[in-house]
Amino acid sequence: MQILKSVDENVNLLILGAGWTSTFLIPLLKREQIKYAATTRNGRDGTIPFEFDPRSSDTGPFEILPLAETVLITFPLQGEGQAKHLVSMYESTHQKPDNSKPHFIQLGATSIWTAPKWQDESSPYERNHSRAIAEDELMACSEGAVLNLAGLYGNARQPRDWIDRVVKSKSDLKGKGALHVIHGEDVARAVVALHRNFTPKKRWLLTDMHVYDWWDLAQDWAIQTLQRAESDIDQGDIPIAKIERQRELLNWVGELMVEEGVKALPRDTSSVGRALDGRGFWKTMRIWPIQGRIR
Ligand SMILES: NC(=O)c1ccc[n+]([C@@H]2O[C@H](COP(=O)([O-])OP(=O)(O)OC[C@H]3O[C@@H](n4cnc5c(N)ncnc54)[C@H](OP(=O)(O)O)[C@@H]3O)[C@@H](O)[C@H]2O)c1
Repeated sequence: MQILKSVDENVNLLILGAGWTSTFLIPLLKREQIKYAATTRNGRDGTIPFEFDPRSSDTGPFEILPLAETVLITFPLQGEGQAKHLVSMYESTHQKPDNSKPHFIQLGATSIWTAPKWQDESSPYERNHSRAIAEDELMACSEGAVLNLAGLYGNARQPRDWIDRVVKSKSDLKGKGALHVIHGEDVARAVVALHRNFTPKKRWLLTDMHVYDWWDLAQDWAIQTLQRAESDIDQGDIPIAKIERQRELLNWVGELMVEEGVKALPRDTSSVGRALDGRGFWKTMRIWPIQGRIR
């Protein structure tokens, strides 16, 4: 991975925290010829070593960062003070020749919207949520915007792998309503779109514009695995315990549909709790997600 290390060179986009999302963002920046630099905590793969310590006033870690039009913060800032500190440390060590301020983009999560109904980026959110507090502070003290992301998936991160963690019992499945996701490729497209068409002090909600039903997904994935287990190609390759688990999930879904009076899948969005309306960001940026229909 060729990543700009020289601090003397200015960049269009500085990624503070080149983690999972950057595996999609960096290839896009290269394709779009957007000049960038990226950090990790240990400086791996040619990135700039940088760790934000909210308690430290040492400007050293900031001085080695390049001047950027847009600074993308991928790691969570929490509670009061952290966003203000990061912005002031960066702005005090970096001045643009025309004295304009850098744009900050913070990646956040959609978990700040909790009400069990349709919600979009303008809906009330949990103001006491520690990430929301930091996001609000960022937007108050800088030219900051926030992209609150639904569940991230793509490449090795696949929603079907989440089910064993979140559904251990029939009662867990009963409690599962909607799932909202966004593919890493669309997160990358969203960051580039926001960099080019910046919306200061604006919080966005980013989804792939689907409301998935956990029961529907559980049933579909179970059927797919059982079909693979019976196919000539995979016969004998899928452990018995995994096959049993799929049969169990299939039974639970069917039983719950009968017990809860659900006539067909997917359930209506009005009956799966919190439903997120992600149209606003895409409409404003005049692009639409290119990934959807998780399998
Ligand atoms: N997982 C989900 O489904 C989901 C859903 C919604 C939102 N989100 C949020 O989306 C964002 C991006 O997710 P991701 O999966 O790309 O994250 P990730 O892979 O964990 O990447 C975070 C990056 O930030 C760096 N970092 C962490 N703490 C830091 C600090 N104090 N100072 C400087 N750098 C620091 C990490 O450095 P190292 O590379 O050295 O570790 C890493 O490069 C996160 O804020 C996450 O909470 C996640």
